[in-house]
Amino acid sequence: MEPAIITVPLGSRAYPVVIGAGVRRLFPEYFARTGCRLAFWVTDVHVVEHWKEQIETLRDPTTELMVLPPGEDQKRLSTVEDLCRRLVSMGAERGDAIVACGGGVIGDMVGLAAALYQRGIVFIQIPTTLLAMVDASVGGKTGVDLPEGKNLVGVFHQPAFVLADTEFLNTLPQRELHSGMAEVIKMALIGEPELFAHLVKISEHGYDIFENSSYLIERCVNLKSLIVAQDEREKGRRAVLNFGHTIGHALEAWGGYQTLTHGEAVFWGMVAAIDLSRDLGLLDSAVADHIMTVIQPQLKPIPKLKFQSEQILELMARDKKTRSGRPEFVLLRGVGNAVIGQPLAESDILAALQRLRLIMRS
Ligand SMILES: NC(=O)c1ccc[n+]([C@@H]2O[C@H](COP(=O)([O-])OP(=O)(O)OC[C@H]3O[C@@H](n4cnc5c(N)ncnc54)[C@H](O)[C@@H]3O)[C@@H](O)[C@H]2O)c1
Ligand SMILES: [Zn+2]
Repeated sequence: MEPAIITVPLGSRAYPVVIGAGVRRLFPEYFARTGCRLAFWVTDVHVVEHWKEQIETLRDPTTELMVLPPGEDQKRLSTVEDLCRRLVSMGAERGDAIVACGGGVIGDMVGLAAALYQRGIVFIQIPTTLLAMVDASVGGKTGVDLPEGKNLVGVFHQPAFVLADTEFLNTLPQRELHSGMAEVIKMALIGEPELFAHLVKISEHGYDIFENSSYLIERCVNLKSLIVAQDEREKGRRAVLNFGHTIGHALEAWGGYQTLTHGEAVFWGMVAAIDLSRDLGLLDSAVADHIMTVIQPQLKPIPKLKFQSEQILELMARDKKTRSGRPEFVLLRGVGNAVIGQPLAESDILAALQRLRLIMRS
Protein backbone atom coordinates (compact mmCIF):
# COMPACT_ATOMS: atom_id res chain seq x y z
CA MET A 1 0.00 0.00 0.00
CA GLU A 2 1.12 3.51 -0.81
CA PRO A 3 2.11 5.48 2.28
CA ALA A 4 -0.14 8.33 3.36
CA ILE A 5 1.48 11.76 3.47
CA ILE A 6 0.04 14.51 5.60
CA THR A 7 1.61 17.95 5.50
CA VAL A 8 1.68 20.00 8.68
CA PRO A 9 0.89 23.41 7.15
CA LEU A 10 3.27 25.80 8.86
CA GLY A 11 4.22 28.02 5.93
CA SER A 12 7.94 27.96 5.25
CA ARG A 13 8.33 25.40 8.06
CA ALA A 14 5.69 23.01 6.68
CA TYR A 15 6.73 19.37 6.87
CA PRO A 16 5.48 15.96 5.80
CA VAL A 17 4.36 13.12 8.06
CA VAL A 18 4.69 9.89 6.12
CA ILE A 19 2.60 6.99 7.44
CA GLY A 20 2.66 3.31 6.47
CA ALA A 21 4.34 -0.06 6.71
CA GLY A 22 8.07 0.15 5.93
CA VAL A 23 8.25 3.95 5.47
CA ARG A 24 11.50 4.10 7.50
CA ARG A 25 13.16 2.99 4.26
CA LEU A 26 12.27 6.38 2.77
CA PHE A 27 14.72 8.01 5.16
CA PRO A 28 17.56 8.57 2.62
CA GLU A 29 15.17 10.23 0.17
CA TYR A 30 13.63 12.61 2.72
CA PHE A 31 16.97 13.28 4.39
CA ALA A 32 18.50 14.32 1.07
CA ARG A 33 15.79 16.99 0.75
CA THR A 34 16.88 18.65 4.01
CA GLY A 35 20.27 19.49 2.52
CA CYS A 36 21.94 18.44 5.78
CA ARG A 37 25.38 16.88 5.89
CA LEU A 38 25.14 14.14 8.53
CA ALA A 39 22.33 12.61 10.59
CA PHE A 40 23.08 11.65 14.18
CA TRP A 41 20.66 8.98 15.41
CA VAL A 42 19.39 8.61 18.97
CA THR A 43 17.30 5.69 20.15
CA ASP A 44 16.72 3.63 23.30
CA VAL A 45 17.72 0.19 24.52
CA HIS A 46 14.36 -1.46 23.79
CA VAL A 47 14.19 -0.18 20.24
CA VAL A 48 17.73 -1.31 19.55
CA GLU A 49 16.95 -4.77 20.94
CA HIS A 50 14.52 -5.33 18.09
CA TRP A 51 15.57 -2.94 15.34
CA LYS A 52 19.37 -2.58 15.41
CA GLU A 53 19.98 -4.12 12.01
CA GLN A 54 17.31 -2.05 10.29
CA ILE A 55 18.58 1.13 11.92
CA GLU A 56 22.14 0.36 10.88
CA THR A 57 21.16 0.15 7.22
CA LEU A 58 19.78 3.70 7.39
CA ARG A 59 22.57 5.31 9.37
CA ASP A 60 25.84 6.89 8.30
CA PRO A 61 28.54 4.53 9.64
CA THR A 62 30.87 7.45 10.35
CA THR A 63 28.55 8.51 13.17
CA GLU A 64 27.92 6.70 16.43
CA LEU A 65 24.43 5.45 17.31
CA MET A 66 23.43 7.01 20.62
CA VAL A 67 21.45 4.47 22.67
CA LEU A 68 19.81 5.73 25.86
CA PRO A 69 18.29 3.73 28.70
CA PRO A 70 14.50 3.58 28.36
CA GLY A 71 11.95 5.30 30.55
CA GLU A 72 10.40 8.59 31.59
CA ASP A 73 13.07 9.13 34.24
CA GLN A 74 15.60 9.63 31.41
CA LYS A 75 13.63 12.64 30.26
CA ARG A 76 15.68 15.19 32.16
CA LEU A 77 18.10 18.03 31.50
CA SER A 78 21.19 16.01 32.36
CA THR A 79 20.42 13.60 29.48
CA VAL A 80 20.11 16.54 27.09
CA GLU A 81 23.51 17.77 28.29
CA ASP A 82 25.01 14.31 27.72
CA LEU A 83 23.54 14.17 24.22
CA CYS A 84 24.93 17.58 23.33
CA ARG A 85 28.35 16.63 24.64
CA ARG A 86 28.32 13.46 22.56
CA LEU A 87 27.39 15.55 19.52
CA VAL A 88 30.40 17.78 20.18
CA SER A 89 32.67 14.76 20.50
CA MET A 90 31.43 13.46 17.14
CA GLY A 91 32.01 16.84 15.53
CA ALA A 92 28.35 17.63 14.84
CA GLU A 93 27.88 20.99 13.14
CA ARG A 94 25.12 23.50 12.47
CA GLY A 95 24.38 21.90 9.09
CA ASP A 96 23.80 18.44 10.58
CA ALA A 97 20.64 16.80 11.81
CA ILE A 98 19.60 14.71 14.78
CA VAL A 99 17.16 11.82 14.44
CA ALA A 100 14.86 10.69 17.26
CA CYS A 101 14.07 7.03 16.66
CA GLY A 102 11.92 5.92 19.57
CA GLY A 103 8.86 6.66 21.65
CA GLY A 104 7.68 9.98 23.03
CA VAL A 105 10.43 10.06 25.63
CA ILE A 106 13.18 9.93 23.01
CA GLY A 107 11.27 12.34 20.74
CA ASP A 108 10.69 14.99 23.42
CA MET A 109 14.24 14.86 24.71
CA VAL A 110 16.07 14.64 21.38
CA GLY A 111 13.87 17.44 20.06
CA LEU A 112 15.03 19.65 22.91
CA ALA A 113 18.66 18.71 22.29
CA ALA A 114 18.19 19.57 18.59
CA ALA A 115 16.66 22.94 19.47
CA LEU A 116 19.51 23.80 21.84
CA TYR A 117 22.59 22.35 20.16
CA GLN A 118 24.45 25.23 18.50
CA ARG A 119 21.21 27.24 18.87
CA GLY A 120 19.24 24.78 16.80
CA ILE A 121 19.91 22.05 14.28
CA VAL A 122 17.54 20.07 12.07
CA PHE A 123 15.40 17.54 13.89
CA ILE A 124 13.87 14.39 12.40
CA GLN A 125 11.26 12.14 14.01
CA ILE A 126 11.02 8.39 13.49
CA PRO A 127 8.42 7.41 16.10
CA THR A 128 8.34 3.77 17.21
CA THR A 129 5.37 3.70 19.61
CA LEU A 130 1.71 4.16 18.77
CA LEU A 131 1.56 7.11 21.16
CA ALA A 132 4.45 8.86 19.43
CA MET A 133 3.01 8.13 15.97
CA VAL A 134 -0.46 9.49 16.71
CA ASP A 135 0.57 12.43 18.84
CA ALA A 136 4.03 13.15 20.26
CA SER A 137 6.06 13.15 17.02
CA VAL A 138 3.92 15.84 15.40
CA GLY A 139 3.60 19.44 16.46
CA GLY A 140 7.07 20.41 17.66
CA LYS A 141 6.62 20.28 21.44
CA THR A 142 9.90 19.20 22.97
CA GLY A 143 10.88 19.06 26.61
CA VAL A 144 12.05 17.31 29.72
CA ASP A 145 10.78 16.81 33.24
CA LEU A 146 11.99 18.36 36.49
CA PRO A 147 11.71 16.61 39.85
CA GLU A 148 8.91 19.14 40.49
CA GLY A 149 6.83 18.08 37.50
CA LYS A 150 6.49 16.78 33.98
CA ASN A 151 7.48 18.68 30.84
CA LEU A 152 8.28 21.81 32.83
CA VAL A 153 11.25 22.74 30.64
CA GLY A 154 11.01 22.78 26.87
CA VAL A 155 10.73 24.70 23.63
CA PHE A 156 8.85 24.43 20.36
CA HIS A 157 11.06 23.00 17.64
CA GLN A 158 9.32 21.48 14.62
CA PRO A 159 10.81 18.45 12.88
CA ALA A 160 11.88 18.56 9.23
CA PHE A 161 9.90 15.39 8.54
CA VAL A 162 8.28 12.48 10.36
CA LEU A 163 8.35 8.85 9.22
CA ALA A 164 5.68 6.85 11.09
CA ASP A 165 6.48 3.27 10.18
CA THR A 166 3.73 0.97 11.46
CA GLU A 167 6.09 -2.04 11.33
CA PHE A 168 7.69 -0.78 14.54
CA LEU A 169 4.42 -1.58 16.31
CA ASN A 170 5.00 -5.30 15.78
CA THR A 171 7.53 -5.37 18.62
CA LEU A 172 5.79 -2.92 20.92
CA PRO A 173 4.64 -4.50 24.21
CA GLN A 174 0.86 -4.84 24.50
CA ARG A 175 0.77 -2.42 27.42
CA GLU A 176 2.43 0.32 25.36
CA LEU A 177 0.16 -0.31 22.39
CA HIS A 178 -2.81 0.01 24.67
CA SER A 179 -1.42 3.25 26.14
CA GLY A 180 -1.25 4.73 22.65
CA MET A 181 -4.94 4.03 22.22
CA ALA A 182 -5.65 6.62 24.91
CA GLU A 183 -4.37 9.39 22.63
CA VAL A 184 -6.27 7.90 19.68
CA ILE A 185 -9.54 7.99 21.62
CA LYS A 186 -8.65 11.50 22.82
CA MET A 187 -8.25 12.73 19.24
CA ALA A 188 -11.54 11.10 18.23
CA LEU A 189 -13.39 12.77 21.10
CA ILE A 190 -11.96 16.25 20.67
CA GLY A 191 -12.34 16.55 16.92
CA GLU A 192 -12.71 13.41 14.81
CA PRO A 193 -16.29 12.03 14.99
CA GLU A 194 -15.54 9.82 11.98
CA LEU A 195 -12.64 8.22 13.83
CA PHE A 196 -14.89 7.75 16.85
CA ALA A 197 -17.47 5.91 14.72
CA HIS A 198 -14.65 3.71 13.45
CA LEU A 199 -13.55 3.00 17.03
CA VAL A 200 -17.11 2.04 17.99
CA LYS A 201 -17.14 -0.38 15.09
CA ILE A 202 -13.80 -2.00 15.88
CA SER A 203 -14.43 -2.08 19.64
CA GLU A 204 -17.26 -4.52 18.93
CA HIS A 205 -14.68 -6.94 17.52
CA GLY A 206 -12.06 -6.52 20.23
CA TYR A 207 -9.93 -3.77 18.62
CA ASP A 208 -7.46 -5.11 16.09
CA ILE A 209 -5.01 -2.23 16.38
CA PHE A 210 -2.55 -3.69 13.85
CA GLU A 211 -5.11 -4.02 11.15
CA ASN A 212 -6.23 -0.45 11.73
CA SER A 213 -3.00 1.29 12.67
CA SER A 214 -2.39 3.26 9.47
CA TYR A 215 -5.93 4.60 9.44
CA LEU A 216 -5.83 5.49 13.14
CA ILE A 217 -2.49 7.30 12.78
CA GLU A 218 -3.64 9.12 9.67
CA ARG A 219 -6.81 10.48 11.27
CA CYS A 220 -4.96 11.55 14.42
CA VAL A 221 -2.10 13.22 12.55
CA ASN A 222 -4.60 14.94 10.30
CA LEU A 223 -6.42 16.47 13.25
CA LYS A 224 -3.24 17.34 15.13
CA SER A 225 -1.72 19.05 12.11
CA LEU A 226 -4.80 21.24 11.69
CA ILE A 227 -4.83 22.20 15.36
CA VAL A 228 -1.09 22.91 15.37
CA ALA A 229 -1.38 25.02 12.22
CA GLN A 230 -4.06 27.16 13.89
CA ASP A 231 -2.25 27.58 17.19
CA GLU A 232 1.35 26.40 17.06
CA ARG A 233 2.35 27.73 20.48
CA GLU A 234 -0.74 26.79 22.45
CA LYS A 235 -2.08 30.28 23.03
CA GLY A 236 -5.63 28.95 22.71
CA ARG A 237 -7.18 26.16 20.68
CA ARG A 238 -4.21 23.76 20.87
CA ALA A 239 -5.07 23.25 24.52
CA VAL A 240 -7.91 20.90 23.44
CA LEU A 241 -5.15 18.31 22.97
CA ASN A 242 -4.89 18.27 26.75
CA PHE A 243 -8.26 16.55 27.07
CA GLY A 244 -7.91 13.96 29.85
CA HIS A 245 -4.47 15.31 30.73
CA THR A 246 -5.31 17.66 33.62
CA ILE A 247 -6.28 14.86 35.99
CA GLY A 248 -4.20 12.39 33.95
CA HIS A 249 -0.91 14.16 34.59
CA ALA A 250 -1.67 14.43 38.30
CA LEU A 251 -2.41 10.69 38.51
CA GLU A 252 0.76 9.93 36.57
CA ALA A 253 2.76 12.02 39.05
CA TRP A 254 0.92 10.42 42.00
CA GLY A 255 2.09 7.03 40.77
CA GLY A 256 5.65 8.37 40.58
CA TYR A 257 5.63 7.84 36.76
CA GLN A 258 6.04 4.14 37.54
CA THR A 259 2.56 2.86 38.31
CA LEU A 260 0.77 4.26 35.28
CA THR A 261 2.08 4.89 31.80
CA HIS A 262 1.25 8.27 30.30
CA GLY A 263 -1.53 6.74 28.20
CA GLU A 264 -3.03 4.82 31.10
CA ALA A 265 -3.16 7.98 33.18
CA VAL A 266 -4.85 9.77 30.26
CA PHE A 267 -7.49 7.00 30.12
CA TRP A 268 -8.45 7.70 33.76
CA GLY A 269 -8.23 11.43 33.13
CA MET A 270 -10.66 11.14 30.20
CA VAL A 271 -13.10 9.12 32.30
CA ALA A 272 -13.08 11.92 34.88
CA ALA A 273 -13.40 14.66 32.24
CA ILE A 274 -16.36 12.91 30.58
CA ASP A 275 -18.02 12.46 33.95
CA LEU A 276 -17.39 16.12 34.78
CA SER A 277 -18.81 17.22 31.42
CA ARG A 278 -21.96 15.23 32.15
CA ASP A 279 -22.17 16.51 35.70
CA LEU A 280 -21.96 20.14 34.55
CA GLY A 281 -24.74 19.56 32.04
CA LEU A 282 -22.49 20.11 29.01
CA LEU A 283 -22.66 16.54 27.76
CA ASP A 284 -25.89 14.66 27.24
CA SER A 285 -26.03 11.63 29.52
CA ALA A 286 -26.83 9.19 26.71
CA VAL A 287 -23.86 10.48 24.69
CA ALA A 288 -21.60 10.10 27.73
CA ASP A 289 -22.77 6.49 28.10
CA HIS A 290 -22.15 5.87 24.41
CA ILE A 291 -18.60 7.23 24.71
CA MET A 292 -17.99 5.01 27.71
CA THR A 293 -18.85 1.92 25.65
CA VAL A 294 -15.64 2.55 23.71
CA ILE A 295 -13.53 3.44 26.75
CA GLN A 296 -14.81 0.88 29.25
CA PRO A 297 -13.23 -2.25 27.71
CA GLN A 298 -9.90 -0.40 27.59
CA LEU A 299 -9.92 0.28 31.33
CA LYS A 300 -9.79 -3.32 32.49
CA PRO A 301 -6.01 -3.89 32.30
CA ILE A 302 -5.12 -0.47 33.72
CA PRO A 303 -3.72 -0.37 37.26
CA LYS A 304 -6.08 1.27 39.72
CA LEU A 305 -4.73 3.85 42.12
CA LYS A 306 -5.70 4.46 45.72
CA PHE A 307 -5.38 8.22 45.65
CA GLN A 308 -6.55 11.01 47.88
CA SER A 309 -8.57 13.58 46.00
CA GLU A 310 -7.09 16.57 47.84
CA GLN A 311 -3.58 15.51 46.94
CA ILE A 312 -4.48 15.02 43.30
CA LEU A 313 -5.95 18.53 43.36
CA GLU A 314 -2.66 19.83 44.75
CA LEU A 315 -0.66 18.07 42.02
CA MET A 316 -3.01 19.56 39.44
CA ALA A 317 -2.31 23.05 40.72
CA ARG A 318 1.41 22.45 40.15
CA ASP A 319 0.94 21.26 36.56
CA LYS A 320 1.78 23.74 33.83
CA LYS A 321 -1.75 23.41 32.49
CA THR A 322 -2.87 25.93 35.05
CA ARG A 323 -3.76 29.56 34.58
CA SER A 324 -3.39 31.75 37.68
CA GLY A 325 -3.04 28.61 39.77
CA ARG A 326 -6.34 27.12 38.55
CA PRO A 327 -6.29 23.89 36.57
CA GLU A 328 -7.54 24.35 33.03
CA PHE A 329 -9.98 21.66 32.02
CA VAL A 330 -10.93 20.51 28.57
CA LEU A 331 -14.53 19.31 28.61
CA LEU A 332 -16.85 17.81 26.03
CA ARG A 333 -20.12 19.01 24.59
CA GLY A 334 -20.34 16.02 22.31
CA VAL A 335 -18.20 13.67 20.25
CA GLY A 336 -15.79 15.88 18.33
CA ASN A 337 -16.77 18.97 20.27
CA ALA A 338 -14.31 19.97 22.99
CA VAL A 339 -14.53 23.17 25.02
CA ILE A 340 -11.89 25.00 27.04
CA GLY A 341 -12.07 27.70 29.67
CA GLN A 342 -15.30 26.52 31.31
CA PRO A 343 -15.42 27.98 34.84
CA LEU A 344 -15.14 25.20 37.40
CA ALA A 345 -15.45 25.27 41.16
CA GLU A 346 -12.96 23.32 43.24
CA SER A 347 -15.89 21.39 44.70
CA ASP A 348 -16.88 20.17 41.19
CA ILE A 349 -13.37 18.80 40.62
CA LEU A 350 -13.23 17.18 44.05
CA ALA A 351 -16.59 15.52 43.46
CA ALA A 352 -15.38 14.20 40.07
CA LEU A 353 -12.26 12.79 41.73
CA GLN A 354 -14.37 11.08 44.38
CA ARG A 355 -16.48 9.50 41.62
CA LEU A 356 -13.33 8.41 39.80
CA ARG A 357 -12.22 6.62 42.95
CA LEU A 358 -15.50 4.73 42.95
CA ILE A 359 -15.16 3.89 39.24
CA MET A 360 -11.65 2.56 39.90
CA ARG A 361 -13.00 0.39 42.70
CA SER A 362 -15.85 -1.07 40.61
N1 LIG B 1 5.58 16.24 22.44
C1 LIG B 1 4.31 15.96 22.50
O1 LIG B 1 3.49 16.60 21.86
C2 LIG B 1 3.87 14.79 23.34
C3 LIG B 1 2.56 14.31 23.21
C4 LIG B 1 2.19 13.19 23.95
C5 LIG B 1 3.11 12.59 24.82
N2 LIG B 1 4.37 13.10 24.91
C6 LIG B 1 5.36 12.46 25.80
O2 LIG B 1 5.64 11.17 25.31
C7 LIG B 1 6.09 10.35 26.37
C8 LIG B 1 5.43 9.01 26.30
O3 LIG B 1 5.77 8.41 25.07
P1 LIG B 1 5.67 6.84 24.83
O4 LIG B 1 4.38 6.35 25.35
O5 LIG B 1 6.04 6.61 23.43
O6 LIG B 1 6.76 6.26 25.86
P2 LIG B 1 8.27 5.77 25.73
O7 LIG B 1 9.05 6.59 24.83
O8 LIG B 1 8.73 5.62 27.15
O9 LIG B 1 8.11 4.30 25.10
C9 LIG B 1 7.42 3.31 25.79
C10 LIG B 1 8.24 2.04 25.95
O10 LIG B 1 8.27 1.33 24.71
C11 LIG B 1 9.62 1.02 24.33
N3 LIG B 1 9.62 0.99 22.87
C12 LIG B 1 9.53 2.05 22.03
N4 LIG B 1 9.38 1.63 20.77
C13 LIG B 1 9.40 0.29 20.80
C14 LIG B 1 9.26 -0.72 19.81
N5 LIG B 1 9.02 -0.43 18.53
N6 LIG B 1 9.36 -2.03 20.20
C15 LIG B 1 9.54 -2.34 21.50
N7 LIG B 1 9.63 -1.45 22.47
C16 LIG B 1 9.57 -0.14 22.14
C17 LIG B 1 10.43 2.09 24.99
O11 LIG B 1 11.76 1.68 25.19
C18 LIG B 1 9.70 2.26 26.33
O12 LIG B 1 10.10 1.26 27.22
C19 LIG B 1 5.79 11.10 27.65
O13 LIG B 1 7.00 11.61 28.17
C20 LIG B 1 4.89 12.24 27.22
O14 LIG B 1 5.02 13.38 28.01
C21 LIG B 1 4.76 14.18 24.20
ZN1 LIG C 1 -0.57 12.80 26.08
